[in-house]
Amino acid sequence: MSAELSQPRVSQLGEFITPNHLFFVRDHFVDRPVLSDDEWRLYLEGIGVEYTTISLDHLRSLPSKTLTVTLECAGNGGYGRGADRHQHHMRSMVGTAVWRGVPVATLFENAIPPEVTEFVFRGYDGGEDPDEPVPIDCYTRSIPRAKVLDGDTLLVYEMNGEPLPREHGFPVRLVVPGWYGMDSVKWLRSIEARTTPLGHFYDDHKYRAQSTDAGLQAGRRVREMGVKSLVLSPSNGQRLLFGDIPISGLAWAGENDVTSVDISFDGGRTWQPTELGHEARPYSWRTWSLTRKVDEVGPLDFVVRAVDSEGRSQPMDAQPVRTYEANWVQHVRVFVVAGLEA
Ligand code: MTE
Repeated sequence: MSAELSQPRVSQLGEFITPNHLFFVRDHFVDRPVLSDDEWRLYLEGIGVEYTTISLDHLRSLPSKTLTVTLECAGNGGYGRGADRHQHHMRSMVGTAVWRGVPVATLFENAIPPEVTEFVFRGYDGGEDPDEPVPIDCYTRSIPRAKVLDGDTLLVYEMNGEPLPREHGFPVRLVVPGWYGMDSVKWLRSIEARTTPLGHFYDDHKYRAQSTDAGLQAGRRVREMGVKSLVLSPSNGQRLLFGDIPISGLAWAGENDVTSVDISFDGGRTWQPTELGHEARPYSWRTWSLTRKVDEVGPLDFVVRAVDSEGRSQPMDAQPVRTYEANWVQHVRVFVVAGLEA
């Protein structure tokens, strides 16, 4: 048995809001906590915090906030230079939902002393992680104060208008908008205020950016999402009838806005802007589309690149090794044919 990792097909991500049953699932441990809404408790503790226990009823009685947030797993699409690098189905560990919950800032009401720099979030799950020889007591993330208390980091109990499904963290999870999915701790158990980072396996070893060939654990801590685009249609290798060929997809940029999505049909020498759908706003993806008139049969290659409000763009080349934060451009080849014979 291995821990749960399920994801939709890329072609199923066509809706702006990803339905709960299609939203990817990424668990580290085999055993998923079974928690009831009356028994669940959240513990607040640490420097300058009066030890407090919070029930779901109490959380629900506080003023709530609703945000549309795209969550992407830091490992989405990061398969290096192997054959998998091109594969369409390796790119769908991303989804957008409408999350409702209580800002973490509301719970602490500015009562936190200035020396607190980090908050540690722990889940009710634990067990064996394939990257660590000794079992782990619980899933843990340490997040800097400014992000935790910015008013948008939420203790979420509703996903797309429904109680949070069990696989997405029932009854309460953290959602850290604009940061890779690993910080959005599911089945939340406790929040601890600290004056130093925790130094836990998940912060010091796993979820470090690949900066050298030394391995995944070498680089800086993975946090903010990069700018990235995804081609929904056509899919790599698809056969299409010549004429008007519609190309469409999604693009997101974490805490920034997506400002343009461009397509190149000549390997990156020249770029054409696509038409963007939905408003530009942080945290959530946008749709884009372009129709290409093709009157020659044969292979058609194209590359898609998004740009964000800070001028960030996607690298042209894939990393040679397995990595987090893989946001290089997507190369697609389709075959234009004169007739779609069976
Ligand atoms: N929280 C807990 N408690 N345990 C986990 O294994 N996985 C993390 C994060 N939160 C995880 C967790 C990772 S790596 C990701 S990408 C997201 O949850 C996935 O959220 P989802 O399964 O709701 O899509």
